Amino acid sequence: MPSHYQEIKFTLSDNPPEGEPERQYYFIAKCREWVKHKEEELGRPLLGSVINFGCQMNAKDSEKLRGILREAGYQLLDDQSPDPEDADLVLYNTCTVRENANVRVYGRLGSLVSKKKKNPHMLIGLCGCMMQEPHVVEKIKKSYSHTSLIFGTYNLYKFPELLYTAMNSDRMIIDIWKNTDQIVEDLPAERKYSFKSGVNIMFGCNNFCSYCIVPYVRGRERSRQPEAIIKEVKELVQSGVKEIMLLGQNVNSYGKNLEQPITFARLLEMLEEIEGLERIRFMTSHPKDLSDELIAVMAKSKKICRHLHLPLQSGSSRILKEMNRRYNKEKYLELTEKIRRAMPDISLTTDIIVGFPGETEEDFLETLDVVNKVGYDTAFTFIYSRRTGTPAAAQENQVPEDIVKERFNRLLKLVQEKGRQASSRFTGTIQEVLVEEVNHSQEGYVTGRMGNNLLVHFPGCPTLVGTLVKVRLQECRGFYYIGEMI
Ligand code: 5AD
Ligand code: SF4
Repeated sequence: MPSHYQEIKFTLSDNPPEGEPERQYYFIAKCREWVKHKEEELGRPLLGSVINFGCQMNAKDSEKLRGILREAGYQLLDDQSPDPEDADLVLYNTCTVRENANVRVYGRLGSLVSKKKKNPHMLIGLCGCMMQEPHVVEKIKKSYSHTSLIFGTYNLYKFPELLYTAMNSDRMIIDIWKNTDQIVEDLPAERKYSFKSGVNIMFGCNNFCSYCIVPYVRGRERSRQPEAIIKEVKELVQSGVKEIMLLGQNVNSYGKNLEQPITFARLLEMLEEIEGLERIRFMTSHPKDLSDELIAVMAKSKKICRHLHLPLQSGSSRILKEMNRRYNKEKYLELTEKIRRAMPDISLTTDIIVGFPGETEEDFLETLDVVNKVGYDTAFTFIYSRRTGTPAAAQENQVPEDIVKERFNRLLKLVQEKGRQASSRFTGTIQEVLVEEVNHSQEGYVTGRMGNNLLVHFPGCPTLVGTLVKVRLQECRGFYYIGEMI
């Protein structure tokens, strides 16, 4: 590392604890002292902002980062603030699953140069998946020297220590780990909603789908101990949480590598017993690992939501093989039929990639065929993005851009048409919904989410937010309903 980048091992005049998370609480206290001092110097509060670019796992990480900043004494700006980047500390939690996520980060980072000129005390941090790629860090060192701090996905829990180092240095602080087998629990978190929360159950991914960068930037699968998960959920429920979303890249393989292995289905059964917890969701399920045991547990459960996100990626068995997905078109269709037999009212959603290297018109038609047959409520459609370091990126037969765009538009049209049909099947039914927010576009209305993940707007007062109520679905308007409370 060049000499003007500070190595992380530093010495303080007093002795920080060795163990975690105590060590990080020590540094939170140190940061708080620094913030207080700065506030006195500037005669105003210090503002902090965490800007999230990625998936639900990243969003959850951002809550942890915000929690740490709040404890360190920063006043937090949120996404609704007029300019969340007008802060004394801006932290970008990045994503690299597709190239456009990277492009957005570079753009926003570039625009911070002028802000830092106006506010020389400003600290700029970067973390998350993109930072695990060496070429990204090289580029930032070279072209974005106004950055104060860079860290990755494995050492997120070290944020207080790294922040304190950055506060006391005018060099760029960089700490990226190549992997870890550690899971540090019990750091502060600032939850976005008081009544629902994400809960990590595992980190990393072992599947190495040939297009995907996640296993390289998030490392091997590591499951949390069931006891730690249950403890966290009980605490959340005590603080008013009604709904949890269990998070993992592939929740269906949860627990396989624990010293005392346990299945995901069993974990769900244990969580179901927690009194006061009303709803359980989870994300994401790999079709190859979705067990009959899980279907049976879901079918008899009162709390697990009737929604499965089951990424298809492609409907062509040939492409699925090239993608290393380890199921084929027939297996996928059999699985969705089995799920629908056990739970006829379930909502299925999916992810689809268009333009994987070598995809022909015939392959693409297979994808359309699956979309037609399954009837997804929603499908997230992506144009294939070449990720350096993945096996698919090395393939020569990349599909020309104009063909990909044309296929993408055809897929989107079908997905929307089928989605509209599928969503409207609940018209006239009475559903339990969790009221999530006041509806800002229609006065006197609130918005609730059903177990199957669909939204309904209905007349109601703001005090309903965070409660479960019964609503009759009167009219389907594409992807949401208008209803009335009963
Ligand atoms: N290009 C396009 N989409 C991708 N995804 C993952 N990697 C890529 C890529 N290289 C999509 C998959 C996955 C979702 C989270 O992102 O569909 O399920
Ligand atoms: Fe990527 Fe496949 Fe792992 Fe999902 S299961 S994170 S698509 S490698």
